[in-house]
Formats: sequence, structure tokens, C-alpha cells
Amino acid sequence: MSKNRLNLTLPPASADTSNPPNVPTPPLKTPSRANRADLLNQPKNSIDTITQTLQQLDVEKPALNRSQKEQMGEILDEDLETLAELGSGSGGVVIKVRHIPTQSTMARKKIHLELKPLVKKQIIRELKVLHDFNFPHIVGFYGAFQNDGEISICMEYMDGGSLDLILKWAGRIPEPILGKITLAVLKGLSYLRDKHAIMHRDVKPSNILVNSNGDIKICDFGVSGQLTDSIANSFVGSRSYMSPERINGGHYSVQSDIWSLGLSLIEMAIGVYPIPPPDSKFIDQILNENSNQSPKMPEPKMMAIFDQLECIINQPPPRLEHKTFSAEFTDFVDKCLKKDPNERADLKTLLEHPWIEKYENEYVDVAGWVCGTMNLPPSTPN
Ligand SMILES: Nc1ncnc2c1ncn2[C@@H]1O[C@H](COP(=O)(O)OP(=O)(O)OP(=O)(O)O)[C@@H](O)[C@H]1O
Ligand SMILES: [Mg+2]
Repeated sequence: MSKNRLNLTLPPASADTSNPPNVPTPPLKTPSRANRADLLNQPKNSIDTITQTLQQLDVEKPALNRSQKEQMGEILDEDLETLAELGSGSGGVVIKVRHIPTQSTMARKKIHLELKPLVKKQIIRELKVLHDFNFPHIVGFYGAFQNDGEISICMEYMDGGSLDLILKWAGRIPEPILGKITLAVLKGLSYLRDKHAIMHRDVKPSNILVNSNGDIKICDFGVSGQLTDSIANSFVGSRSYMSPERINGGHYSVQSDIWSLGLSLIEMAIGVYPIPPPDSKFIDQILNENSNQSPKMPEPKMMAIFDQLECIINQPPPRLEHKTFSAEFTDFVDKCLKKDPNERADLKTLLEHPWIEKYENEYVDVAGWVCGTMNLPPSTPN
């Protein structure tokens, strides 16, 4: 894409003020409101300054560059070289692959389902809609195909992995990082609803991905009704993020995704799945950095899935009760975890919540946190 997005021209004297070749520019930071005003008042004496100003004013780039995708065309099994296994879930396995013709790295999700060939064909057809999904907080899609009875979905590779993985390394995720994560998820869910009239259906830490650029993207949303049903029938998960109304088998909507987000936030903030709510002494112990209590309390035992579901329906919702967390964060989570979906805050209200507005305006070094936690080299700006 041309750097000169506004087609501006410059007087000859200022035309050579760009960086010398091969000297990387420092990563851009999200400016605060005050900084934004400063940016707008800067003398605009080079195309780079203008481009930088636009970038800093949140003119975000889409997940995948269009020309990169056009160059790729249809993805074929024989063009993919396996590099490493990234993880597995109830639907199948995710592998890091190289697309040999373009030398691009991708994540390939292989789904093995005992389905009739016609049903598989329908799933591939439904998945192709993903080519029209282009948003900074939705993981990019390269293509889907069938091979040896397996369905493969090729998507953007996120080098920081999913938040459940990061949580295992980090123990807990700090509140400012969770603020940025929540902002990204809310924007992603709004995009799915407003532009494609779908809800996610599977919001949880393993379906939120991050990379060393500090990008935060959601994946595995229910774009293919047929695939969602087939995977739901083979569910072998050990924890549930489902809302009470969904467990009860009633009508559910995007409000159900908001419950799942609230539950995921508590889990990422305290480092343990919050059903049943852990003992307050246990929470004190894990959140108190300087705790020298001994002996250490053991981590609460995981409940069987049926008991979890029963607990979600019959017990009061979990809360973030600890002085470590800000009152705004606690209130935000409370608003997500109302058992009655009509009392639960909706996407618009949550996007206007003071906790979210704070992180909309505040710079948080997500890239530094991802690289530090996952021991990744910092990415070079492209
Ligand atoms: N695009 C990607 N880039 C990097 N890692 C990925 C990507 N997609 C998935 N992964 C990794 O692969 C793992 C398995 O993903 P998968 O969606 O199959 O299962 P899950 O989300 O963990 O669980 P479930 O299938 O029960 O919903 C994820 O936890 C994540 O760590
Ligand atoms: Mg997943």
C-alpha cells in the first residue's frame, strides 16, 4: 500500500526527510488525549510525519493485506509445510505451517469430524464467507479446504498464542493489559454483530490471540452454523464459559457472549477458573505478591463439568472481590455477569463504561508484555 494515503505532495526541500533505508522506526504508541492534540498541532513537513500522525490517531490496518491474499489464491494441502504444533482443542489440532509459494507463515486448524461428505462441503462453503471478514481485532483468514476427510482452516499466525496459554506462563494477567484485551474483544464482537449479523458463541481465553506487535484478535466465532453444531456435539471441554440462559436451553443472543467475556476476565485476573468461586483466603494468597504465608494453600480442585453447569445456574455469579482491582474493573465485570441477560450490560453500554474509556485513551505496552511473557523477540515494524 502506498505510504502516501492522502495523495499529498511536498515541496522539493522537504522530500528527503524520511528515515534512511534499513533504520527501523521505533514502535508507535497509542497517544493519550492530550498527546493527540499535540499530534494534530505538529507542523506537517513530511509524508512520514503525516503517516505517523494518522497511525497514531488509531487509523488501524486490517488483519491481512489484500494484495498478500490475492497473490496466494486458493490454498492447497501440498503447498503447506508443517513447522510446529501450536495446540489442540475439542475440534482438532492447530499447526504452524509455511505456505511454500509465498513463504508466509500461517496457523492451520485441522478438524476431524465424522460427517457425511455433503455436510463437509457445506461447512467449507460456509467458511468461505470469512474472506469478507477484515477487521483489526478479528484473526485474518487465508482459506479453507478439505483433504483426506479433514477440514482445514488457514488463518493468520499469532506468535504470542492464545490467552489461556499465556495465562499458564504468566500466572495472572495485569489489569491494564486486561483493559486493552477487553476493548479489543468488545470491538471485535461489535464488528461481528454490526457488519455480519453474527454472535461469537465461544468467547474464552483460548479464542483470544495476541502477537508480538501487541495486536489482540478473536478467533473461532460461529460463522458456519453447521460446523458450530458439529463441534458442539463432540464437546469434550473441561470448563464452561456458557451463560445461564444458554445452559438452560433457552433463547440466547450476543448477551451470552458478554457473560463469557466476564467469566474469562475473572479467570485471567486471578489466574484460576472461577466456578466454583475460590476461597477468599486462596485469592488473598495468590494476589498478595509479598505473601509469606506458609504452607501454601493448594489450588482448588476442578469441578466436573456437570457440577460447573449446575453451579452457574443455581449459585450467585462470581465476582472480582479484591482490593488489588480497581472499582471500575470490578463494576465492569459485575455488569457482564448478571444472570438475567436483560439485566446484563450490552455491547454499547460496555464500550462506554469508564473502565473501557480509560483504556481507550491510555497507552499500555501490550507488545512488551507479550514479548516479555512469551520470551519473543520484539517485532520490527513493517
Ligand atoms: N491463529 C493462531 N495462531 C497461533 N496459535 C493458535 C492460533 N489458533 C489457535 N492457536 C493455538 O491452538 C490452540 C488450540 O486451538 P483450538 O481452537 O483447536 O482449541 P481451543 O480453543 O484451545 O479449545 P476448544 O477446541 O475446546 O474450543 C489454542 O489454544 C492456541 O493456543
Ligand atoms: Mg479455539
